[in-house]
Amino acid sequence: MKTYDFVVLGSGIAGLSFALKAARHGTVALITKRAGEDSNTAQAQGGVACVTSGEDSFDLHVRDTLTAGAGLCNEAVVRTIVTEGPARIQELMELGVHFDERDLESGESELDLGREGGHSKRRILHARDATGREIEQSLLRAAQTTPNIELLENHMAVDLITTGKLGFVTEDRCVGAYVLDESTGVVETFRTDRLILATGGCGKVYLYTTNPNVATGDGMAMAWRAGATIANMEFVQFHPTCLYHPAGRSYLISEAVRGEGGKLVDAKGHEFMGRYHKLGALAPRDIVARAIDAEMKRTGAPCVYLDITHKPAEFVRERFPNIYENCLKLGLDITKDPIPVVPAAHYQCGGVLTDNNGATSLRGLYAVGEVACTGLHGANRLASNSLLEAVVIAHRAIQHVLKDLPLNGKPLHELTPPEWISGDAHDVDEMVVIYHNWDEIRRLMWDYVGIVRTDKRLKRASTRLRNLLREIQEFYWDFKLNTDLLELRNLATVAALIVDCALLRKESRGLHYTLDYPESDDRHWLKNTEIRWV
Ligand code: SIN
Repeated sequence: MKTYDFVVLGSGIAGLSFALKAARHGTVALITKRAGEDSNTAQAQGGVACVTSGEDSFDLHVRDTLTAGAGLCNEAVVRTIVTEGPARIQELMELGVHFDERDLESGESELDLGREGGHSKRRILHARDATGREIEQSLLRAAQTTPNIELLENHMAVDLITTGKLGFVTEDRCVGAYVLDESTGVVETFRTDRLILATGGCGKVYLYTTNPNVATGDGMAMAWRAGATIANMEFVQFHPTCLYHPAGRSYLISEAVRGEGGKLVDAKGHEFMGRYHKLGALAPRDIVARAIDAEMKRTGAPCVYLDITHKPAEFVRERFPNIYENCLKLGLDITKDPIPVVPAAHYQCGGVLTDNNGATSLRGLYAVGEVACTGLHGANRLASNSLLEAVVIAHRAIQHVLKDLPLNGKPLHELTPPEWISGDAHDVDEMVVIYHNWDEIRRLMWDYVGIVRTDKRLKRASTRLRNLLREIQEFYWDFKLNTDLLELRNLATVAALIVDCALLRKESRGLHYTLDYPESDDRHWLKNTEIRWV
């Protein structure tokens, strides 16, 4: 058994931010299932929304966030995150994160602020079109050289350990996790009184997604199995503009392209967003994604186009160097050709329910970043608010946990969880079964639980997922664990949580749109959908 003051699962902006602060107080195991930089954060293009200009205000940022959230944001949480944001951004810059600046006539320079959908002001701090990579690299470098942090790559948490599961009848608390070391195949026991889930989202549950392969909803699934409250999983954000190209699947074309004047057009070059919303291509994401879906269904076209060819080629190459190069490799010169795009699953607004300190319903368990549902995003996340949420809540979580579970040199409980027993499990003989189930889940979620839903399709998905979960449970006990099997189990669990929440909400709101209840119902549904394993 290994014992740490803090165990952090996940090495994106949330996990790294927390680990760096926690290391000032005690020992930290920073556990990540692939390499340190394999995170959703590293893929983030747009940037961080934060009030830094005199032309902007906290009130405006709060208002924009509430508007996008369609009535379900927690206003107090929104205000906390927005107002505490500038101090956390300053810390990122002190750690070496470099955001783009622009030269002023006076000879001085200021932050170059981008614009994205739903924002009434320019307020997006960015590093060209690879903001997440800049943040990830700086934080990871700092973590790798911080003595109290032990970075454990290629380690994947299997399940959380709770006093309830161990048979203690007093308060149910999180006391650690079982973790698979991929290099040895051994499941180790990590004992801690302070476990932080920073495992990101679950985009891989859908056939088409902007997310990297790691986004399999592991934290949400583990928290569910441990009995923590999960909320609002029906609110899956589909990004309107994922590249549509057989060789470039999952490649995001940042909303910043529309922020800089990119137009959404059909195959004949006609702009269509004006028919759907007064803000046109910069309307909130749920509206743009649904409009594209409707246009594709109406015309039978497999995609629409994002056209930035009217802007000077030099500006496009300078502002979007990565998008330009990536598309060029696929034979597409975005300074001359419109970019074929389709909506794709991008962000989970729901997750493990927390307060504004990242504390979950299970004492000792914190959730920070996309894995959490803090109340910031409500029914639809405002673009670029998520990186801000991660740094602010990571900061608040460390302060909260130190008060709630103070470090006094020894674990709060002298308990020793039993070791993981593999029994007579043998190696998976046919990986094809795992891949088949994985594909089936992603396809059925895309077809039945996508941008436009119906109860009939959701019920069909629910029945099939229950069968799959039963099958997966059998493998789980018969075969030696590997990451593919663990991810499949988590993916199926998270898919079922999305469907369960979607079936509960008998209205359309934000990202949840159903033909059976096309209107919002404020009288009955101005509230979270909360579910718990009972
Ligand atoms: C983007 O660059 O469009 C993504 C920004 C975000 O999802 O917040």
